[in-house]
Amino acid sequence: MKIFRETERLILREIVLSDVDGMFELDSNPTVHKYLGNKPVKTIEESQKMIQSIQQQYRERGVGRWAVINKKTNEFMGWSGLRLYNATESFNGFTNFYDVGYRFIPKYWGQGYATESGLAALDYAFNVMNLKVVYGITEKGNDASHNVLLKVGFNYVEDFFCEKENLQLRWYKIENN
Ligand SMILES: CC(C)(COP(=O)(O)OP(=O)(O)OC[C@H]1O[C@@H](n2cnc3c(N)ncnc32)[C@H](O)[C@@H]1OP(=O)(O)O)[C@@H](O)C(=O)NCCC(=O)NCCS
Repeated sequence: MKIFRETERLILREIVLSDVDGMFELDSNPTVHKYLGNKPVKTIEESQKMIQSIQQQYRERGVGRWAVINKKTNEFMGWSGLRLYNATESFNGFTNFYDVGYRFIPKYWGQGYATESGLAALDYAFNVMNLKVVYGITEKGNDASHNVLLKVGFNYVEDFFCEKENLQLRWYKIENN
């Protein structure tokens, strides 16, 4: 199992099919999906498909979100990290761009894990992948996510309307200086 990064409290590794119970706990929770279009999953098969789609991204795009594991307890806490949007996936008029995202099971919220994993993802983006720019997207009103993005160094750029999701979203940017 490939480990991409270790931080003070976390192991950031590839997502594997045996993470399915954790992924289901995460994505079946309506609170988690409040600012993600309110479409929590209903079946374990949907979580399996989600893992397979992330694994396909590792193979085809060279990168994808990482599983976040508690170093001490070995628990699956959620996911964090980079995603490459390809030519067919457009946000705010952009295609072929990388973003940082994160999603945690609520019992792990408010303890700095999004910040810790987000900083590791940016370090990987800038120092391993040598990217020049990474973007961030969140729904307007998702204050937790907005604050995490600012805390790890993103600049808020603008709001935009996403027709595909029918959501008012916000656009952030960080450059490698
Ligand atoms: C968004 C999310 C990942 C934040 O994770 P987290 O580990 O709790 O975030 P952190 O503890 O690193 O918080 C970083 C900063 O964000 C702010 N923050 C965290 N939760 C907040 C909340 N509920 N409201 C307002 N600000 C909040 C704090 O200012 C915090 O900084 P501080 O510790 O210096 O005060 C988590 O709430 C989550 O998984 N939400 C559901 C999925 C989601 O919305 N993902 C983002 C999609 S764009």
